[in-house]
Amino acid sequence: MARETWATRIGFILAAVGSAVGLGNIWRFPFITGQEGGSAFLLVYLLFIALIGFPAILVEFVIGRRTKLNPVGAIRELGGGLWKHIGWLFVLTGFIILSYYSVVAGWFLRYTLIGVTDGYVLANPDEAAVLFGSVATGLDSLLFHAVFMAIVIAIIAAGVRSGIEIAVKVMVPAIVLLLLGLAAYGFTLDASSQAYAYYLSPDFGVIAENWTSILPAAAGQAFFTLSLGMGVMITYASYLGEDRNLAEDAGIIAGLDTLIAVIVGFVVFPFLFAAGLEPGAGGAGEIFVSLTTAFTEIPGGRLIGIVFFGMVGIAALSSAISILEVLVSYLIDEKGVERVPAAAGLGVAVFLLGVPVTMDLVFLDLLDLFADSVLLVLGALLLALFVGWVVPEMAREELSRGIGDLGVLGDAWIWVVRVPIVVVVFVSLYLGVVDYVAFLTGDFADWIAAR
Ligand code: TRP
Repeated sequence: MARETWATRIGFILAAVGSAVGLGNIWRFPFITGQEGGSAFLLVYLLFIALIGFPAILVEFVIGRRTKLNPVGAIRELGGGLWKHIGWLFVLTGFIILSYYSVVAGWFLRYTLIGVTDGYVLANPDEAAVLFGSVATGLDSLLFHAVFMAIVIAIIAAGVRSGIEIAVKVMVPAIVLLLLGLAAYGFTLDASSQAYAYYLSPDFGVIAENWTSILPAAAGQAFFTLSLGMGVMITYASYLGEDRNLAEDAGIIAGLDTLIAVIVGFVVFPFLFAAGLEPGAGGAGEIFVSLTTAFTEIPGGRLIGIVFFGMVGIAALSSAISILEVLVSYLIDEKGVERVPAAAGLGVAVFLLGVPVTMDLVFLDLLDLFADSVLLVLGALLLALFVGWVVPEMAREELSRGIGDLGVLGDAWIWVVRVPIVVVVFVSLYLGVVDYVAFLTGDFADWIAAR
């Protein structure tokens, strides 16, 4: 059977934007920005997207379009020796990320439904925390994890054109419209000016004092939000039928993802300030606890809450499908498995791996920290080394197809990949491993000891 391709250019771009825009933008970005000092972090993050994220998207694009293969096959075809094994890392990473991503996405589905059936009526943040506890673990969590994975499987089973492409053409515009509506509402709140001030006036002193934590956090967030480091962009680019300007497409994708993340700040921070809450108080539950408290307080909070949580659910879905597609494309290309059984089998396996997360949130940290600060960063590092030092000629030539003569920009791109990206990612990896070891020997060891 002929390999599938995108039907339209906009389909490809929306699929990549849909992958990029997800829990990373909405759940992770505000609380990381809060933790790392607000606008100071925002500034560093924007720089990283432009200088590191954009060239790194191109790294994955050229590999995918050149080989027209899944990440495991693509890297095997291009690289000899030990390189041919790094595709495996991507499959492992995809399994792990999707397993907990689906559990968290299930929480958003549950919170949307709570708005519909009961509204958000919580006397105080303590009650909101109790509600979060009942949603996050136990049978409810398991059920919504299952529902979410079932939807992901259904879309991927339908294929590239009739599954992913149609789904993102509906979902991505819906996300943008809902978000703009919410930001307009946020603007009407009295607390908005205070929130904007916090969000938009960078304090350079904060950057100078905290750069050792701001830099890796900004780098990690830039890679995560652009879905880099595990072959999503390789896979999506492998379905490109014709040669077009990859740099332009990557610019649109990075630009839209960033715009959406920045708008999310204009939504979340006014809500938090309106309810008298401090951003960045911490942790996975933060956005749920503080926002349900905010939705109890602000006028029209019930409707706003339903729209907000529903919008996040959609955004998570358009990201989750991209992760499952990496795994499925591997089975189809390499093992000749049909799409439907591949999607169902892998989806169920991912679901099972996520089950422990629905029982105890310590597993969320265990998986998220490992995938995000170790595996993804390692994947990004290996990809940059591979393209920058092993196959730079192929990369430059592939990038020029659909653009024409790259001139000095082609060299500039290769050198950005060779040195600055490698250095930044290497430092982040080091700090990420240190962090993870601290978690294993600290919180996680305590948790085991308490059993
Ligand atoms: N980028 C998505 C987000 O911001 C998450 C995501 C989807 C992802 N696919 C990925 C992250 C692959 C890393 C790698 O939520």
